Amino acid sequence: MRKVPILLTLLSVAIALNAVCAEPEMGMDLMQNIEDANKSLSSNIALANKQAAGDDAKELARMFLEVETFFTHKGDATNAVDLARQSRELSAEIVQLVATGKFEVATDKATTLSRTCRTCHTFYKKE
Ligand code: HEC
Repeated sequence: MRKVPILLTLLSVAIALNAVCAEPEMGMDLMQNIEDANKSLSSNIALANKQAAGDDAKELARMFLEVETFFTHKGDATNAVDLARQSRELSAEIVQLVATGKFEVATDKATTLSRTCRTCHTFYKKE
């Protein structure tokens, strides 16, 4: 009978160690949500929809902060941290641009943002 708590303790230690050692992973749907928000952003900029484009860009800025944090903790991924930060800053700029109706500049920034996705995938997305 007295062995059971000890076994349970050992088991929970093993589970905890496993969680610590496991390769960190990005939130399950983070990239898929980024993909959706990025598409939505492009069309809302094209439609000159201030409110919706602003919401998309804010959401992207928030998600790229998560990506940045992920790669910071993962370590040995300086370029990915930089690219995530650039993406976050571009998204934040787009928030300001669409709020003031500067849709042409916002389109240029959105193009740069999409290029940043591809750059990061080239180096960090293993297939
Ligand atoms: C800082 C690096 C980085 C940036 C910037 C980045 N990605 Fe990713 N992306 C990754 C990595 C790493 C993976 C593969 C890991 C995974 O699937 O969890 C990935 C996977 C994906 C996937 C596949 C997801 C799936 O479920 O298989 C999509 C879609 C995607 N990214 C879209 C985008 C879009 C759109 C952008 C830009 C708006 C972007 N990503 C920017 C690193 C990045």
